[in-house]
Amino acid sequence: MRKNIVAGNWKMNKTLQEGLALATELNVALAKAKPNCEVVIGTPFIHLASVVAAIDTKKIHVAAQNCADNDSGAYTGEVSAAMIKSTGAEYVILGHSERRGYYGETSDILYDKVALALTNGLTPIFCCGEALEVRNANEQNAFVKTQLEEAVFNLSVDDFKKIVIAYEPIWAIGTGVTATTEQAQEMLAFIRSLIVRKFGKEIAENTSILYGGSCNAKNAPELFAQPDIDGGLIGGASLKVADFKAIIDAF
Ligand code: 13P
Repeated sequence: MRKNIVAGNWKMNKTLQEGLALATELNVALAKAKPNCEVVIGTPFIHLASVVAAIDTKKIHVAAQNCADNDSGAYTGEVSAAMIKSTGAEYVILGHSERRGYYGETSDILYDKVALALTNGLTPIFCCGEALEVRNANEQNAFVKTQLEEAVFNLSVDDFKKIVIAYEPIWAIGTGVTATTEQAQEMLAFIRSLIVRKFGKEIAENTSILYGGSCNAKNAPELFAQPDIDGGLIGGASLKVADFKAIIDAF
């Protein structure tokens, strides 16, 4: 059975001290009762090792928000998948629209990053999603299909089994405009149908597919009740424990 996952993406927020305080507070909040889903927090690189050391990693799993597209060597300022793994982090968010849009990450680059993450034992949370113009032209399905085909559908079955997919329509990120439950369910069912075609029914049934984009405590219960929505990738609402915990409790 596939996992339900609530993953926070802190983006470029919180100093090390603030991040540690947030992670520790979440750890306390989750210590009382076991969550009904896998909880992940995606912190900036410099927080990873300290956060891992400060929490119960059986209850909260830690993600990086990016990794380098090379193994090691003369790439000033880059952080490799092996380095991330060495901190105790288990996941890496890859292909976020902010990385694609602001830092020129192409499908070719993402293909390499996904491969390196997998080689180093990290679970990629691979993001896809269309801009508003694409949605207005009703071309979102073809757009997302291409993003998946170019970066993850060429993986071997054994590798594909290890990844998590997150659909995040760009128009819903940080805008307060959530995709309607119908729009989110429709796209996630479409993505699952593509996986059925490419890798077969069993793999598709076991792949966790998340929705992201203005997901909050109010809309999470309805979103997570949909048959193809296996959780959320949460930006703003992951920065406050009460908000994030309420989303976790939607499962
Ligand atoms: P918001 O939840 O702030 O809209 O961000 C979503 C997101 O980009 C998570 O990766």
